[in-house]
Amino acid sequence: MYKVAIDGASGTGKSTLAKRAAKRLGWVYVDTGALYRSIGLYVYENGLDPEDADAVSFVLPNVRLELKYEDGVQHVILNGRDVSDTIRLPEISMYASKVSKIPQVRAFLLGTQRDMAKKNNVIMDGRDIGTVIFPDAEVKIFVTVREEIKAQRRYKELIEKGVETTYEDVLRDMRTRDAADASRDIAPCVPASDAVMFDNSDAPLDRAVDMICKIITDKVGK
Ligand code: DC
Repeated sequence: MYKVAIDGASGTGKSTLAKRAAKRLGWVYVDTGALYRSIGLYVYENGLDPEDADAVSFVLPNVRLELKYEDGVQHVILNGRDVSDTIRLPEISMYASKVSKIPQVRAFLLGTQRDMAKKNNVIMDGRDIGTVIFPDAEVKIFVTVREEIKAQRRYKELIEKGVETTYEDVLRDMRTRDAADASRDIAPCVPASDAVMFDNSDAPLDRAVDMICKIITDKVGK
């Protein structure tokens, strides 16, 4: 089975690239951020402090997460409930970022992520897939994008979903979250030493997907 790790900060467009490339190659796409978001949602709904590692670790045994695919689209099931849309709300993004710093949370999700690659060729997107989850991935790509492009895309995405926000708020939240994700001690969002760097600022989507697929097929020979 082949493993492709596509890592990068929030809003770099890595999920869209990973999803499209997986569809084109007929591989399974795994969005690992959705797993952290689901734990963030659980913590939020249970009124816990997402920075209280003891409290969060204590409730982890109550969390059951499954990934399901319908027409190739990933759905996250948290304790039997489809939370795929709810986990995208901005407050849940912040909770996800906070709980993702807790080592017990990362350990809890490690198995779920590794299991996904046992039965399928996967394209997995996240922050530490190439460094921690699959240091042996056949292909590692680290996606970057210029900051203003990133904030603009995220803003548009939220507005289209009917979330009330401003460009300034989106930019501020994004900076806070990216700085936290890149500087944390555990699994920081940094490229693996053997990752291919991919700047996703300027190429139109189709062309960017072509390039990603070429990086993959050049390595695994499909
Ligand atoms: O990719 P995303 O925005 O859906 O991720 C939500 C949060 O989860 C993000 O702030 C960082 C965290 N995360 C992580 O720590 N490791 C991953 N592999 C994926 C996401």
